[in-house]
Amino acid sequence: MVCREQWNVRYRECRERPVPARVLVENRHLLPREGLGLDLACGLGGNALLLAEHGLETQAWDISDVAVHQVNAVSRQRLLPLIAEVRDVIRFPPLKDYFDCVVVSRFLCRELATPIIESLRPGGILFYQTFTREKQGGVGPSNPEWLLGTNELLFLFSALRILVYREEGTVGDGWVGWRDEALLVGMKVN
Ligand SMILES: C[S@@+](CC[C@H](N)C(=O)[O-])C[C@H]1O[C@@H](n2cnc3c(N)ncnc32)[C@H](O)[C@@H]1O
Repeated sequence: MVCREQWNVRYRECRERPVPARVLVENRHLLPREGLGLDLACGLGGNALLLAEHGLETQAWDISDVAVHQVNAVSRQRLLPLIAEVRDVIRFPPLKDYFDCVVVSRFLCRELATPIIESLRPGGILFYQTFTREKQGGVGPSNPEWLLGTNELLFLFSALRILVYREEGTVGDGWVGWRDEALLVGMKVN
């Protein structure tokens, strides 16, 4: 994993606005109406802001204190039910049976798959989107350890009821469609 200071440097220099992941924007209708949400490895908190604006009590965790500070500043400004926290999610994964919704985008730690599933309450929804090894563009990590293999997201979260899955790889006309990343929305059944 890239260390905290490297992420801090990126976020100090970053002039981008927080943007929610496509998996969340395009499947927003699957969000629970109320409850507790988590944006895990939140970065600038684009997902967390969407969850909080939707009405969920939202937590956002990231190892970068610079990013967390920025998320909390926006949350305070917009009077949202969102609190960001500095947290190493590998050392301190989410508690079991706790969240009604978890969102992870552009972060991959395979050992967290089981804790993420366990952190969902029955009926809880997971939104996950990250880069694949088949990605064509230069965006995203180059280390294959941080990239998904074919169908890997399905495999990692097979304990959930899969509501949405999309991974197009390099099949067909690569200029159109949904490339470079895989996305999954799944529900904890019990
Ligand atoms: C590529 S960014 C994605 C941020 C955000 N989810 C998004 O989609 O824009 C990866 C994030 O993971 C965070 N991160 C890396 N290792 C972490 C760890 N062990 N615990 C918590 N956050 C971590 C980084 O600080 C960074 O904000």
